[in-house]
Amino acid sequence: MKQKSSIVWIVVVVVLAVVLLGTWGLAAKTSTDNFCVTCHAYEKVSWDHGQHPDIGCIACHTKGAFKDKTAGMRKVFLTLTDQVDPHRDNLPSYLEKTHENCVACHMTEEIVEMLPHFKARHDEYLKATPTCMGCHDAGHTLKLKDLRKDNARLRI
Ligand code: HEC
Ligand code: HEC
Ligand code: HEC
Ligand code: HEC
Repeated sequence: MKQKSSIVWIVVVVVLAVVLLGTWGLAAKTSTDNFCVTCHAYEKVSWDHGQHPDIGCIACHTKGAFKDKTAGMRKVFLTLTDQVDPHRDNLPSYLEKTHENCVACHMTEEIVEMLPHFKARHDEYLKATPTCMGCHDAGHTLKLKDLRKDNARLRI
């Protein structure tokens, strides 16, 4: 009897481990640039030509790991049910969220300490326009990305 229950426990632990590892693996796989560009080919092209081709998509676009995955599942659903065609429809953009991610990389304590004038000038700049994107064409070369806008599909 005792032996039986320890076998049950071993099975439970093994199953849990497999599920956890699988989830972790899937989360990692769905955070790669290659995964993003299966649906975002236009963005990939404009990103290749931008100032940050060495920075991964998720670094600028994360809204936090949990939100990324729940929003991601919704996006897969919208795509598979043909409610949104990410290659051709105009997609929403969340400038404030992206701005926070710019700041997290470019206005770290170290940078502020090393380049106080950069910070001081930028505090002034940001009084003129609410986000970095008001002045910097960062991440994507907008000229290229805007081509998609002309290519938007007709909804009948
Ligand atoms: C299965 C297709 C698919 C994949 C894969 C995909 N997306 Fe999307 N994406 C979409 C769809 C559909 C929308 C539009 C969602 C809407 O209309 O609310 C979208 C919108 C976006 C937006 C704009 C709106 C927002 O939510 O911020 C960004 C940024 C974005 N995706 C980035 C990414 C990144 C980064 C990845 C890789 C981690 C990725 N996408 C992977 C289909 C996809
Ligand atoms: C993951 C960190 C990271 C994020 C997020 C990020 N950047 Fe950068 N950015 C860098 C690095 C690293 C460089 C230097 C690239 C190089 O010189 O090759 C750079 C370069 C730049 C440059 C060019 C600087 C120059 O010397 O020409 C600008 C402008 C810039 N980023 C603005 C932005 C803006 C705006 C955002 C938000 C949309 C952003 N960055 C998001 C890391 C980041
Ligand atoms: C009102 C316009 C404006 C806004 C808004 C703005 N910048 Fe800049 N940025 C500039 C100008 C002009 C320069 C070049 C002169 C300088 O360094 O002040 C610059 C330079 C830079 C550089 C390069 C610095 C270097 O050493 O070469 C980076 C990186 C940068 N900005 C990032 C950002 C980030 C991140 C944001 C948002 C938090 C932002 N900028 C918002 C105008 C702006
Ligand atoms: C350095 C930061 C940065 C990187 C890296 C980056 N993006 Fe973006 N992305 C932006 C900014 C800024 C915007 C908002 C521009 C706008 O509103 O037109 C944006 C907008 C988007 C959108 C919104 C819809 C649209 O207008 O296209 C999608 C989707 C997107 N990016 C996908 C991607 C994918 C996929 C990658 C990687 C191949 C990527 N981004 C890499 C900064 C970045």
